Amino acid sequence: MVKKINKRNLLIAALAVFALMQLKGIDPTQIEMNPASDFLLIEKAPKELAGLIQTSCYDCHSNTIHYPWYANIAPVSWWIQGHVDHGREKVNFAEWDKYTLEERDSLKRLSADVIEKKWMPILTYKIIHKESRLNEEQRTQLVGWLKN
Ligand code: HEC
Repeated sequence: MVKKINKRNLLIAALAVFALMQLKGIDPTQIEMNPASDFLLIEKAPKELAGLIQTSCYDCHSNTIHYPWYANIAPVSWWIQGHVDHGREKVNFAEWDKYTLEERDSLKRLSADVIEKKWMPILTYKIIHKESRLNEEQRTQLVGWLKN
């Protein structure tokens, strides 16, 4: 006999699923920042631009990720971890020394490109992190420096 599903059972099931989801959390490992490998130092970024890049890009493209509190709650955590994994896969500014000179050149050009087209930082991130938004002038400065 099929037991009738009531609201209470449904709620319990939903809570159980939610609890199980929490078992796969974010990867909390923070790799120690090594200044000798860092993009901003290797490329001698001017201070103002270095600050902008750290604020707008390093949460997804470096090893010093600042996770907000809700980053611990699945499924938000999976979504954020996905951004970080995919972002770092494309370019990791904290391991700049691992790229060849050609790769560095093309990643700088690509970065200028995605900033110019306003693809980066990604929209959902900008909505939540107001401080990561770049204004026209900041974009122009960054693009100019990156293309140099
Ligand atoms: C919230 C996370 C996040 C932030 C912040 C962020 N990125 Fe990304 N970035 C990503 C992800 C995810 C991808 C991979 C996108 C894809 O493959 O579709 C990516 C891809 C890229 C790429 C490769 C683009 C390509 O066509 O292959 C470059 C270059 C890049 N980002 C530069 C930047 C720069 C520069 C900033 C700061 C101005 C920045 N990103 C900020 C998440 C982020």
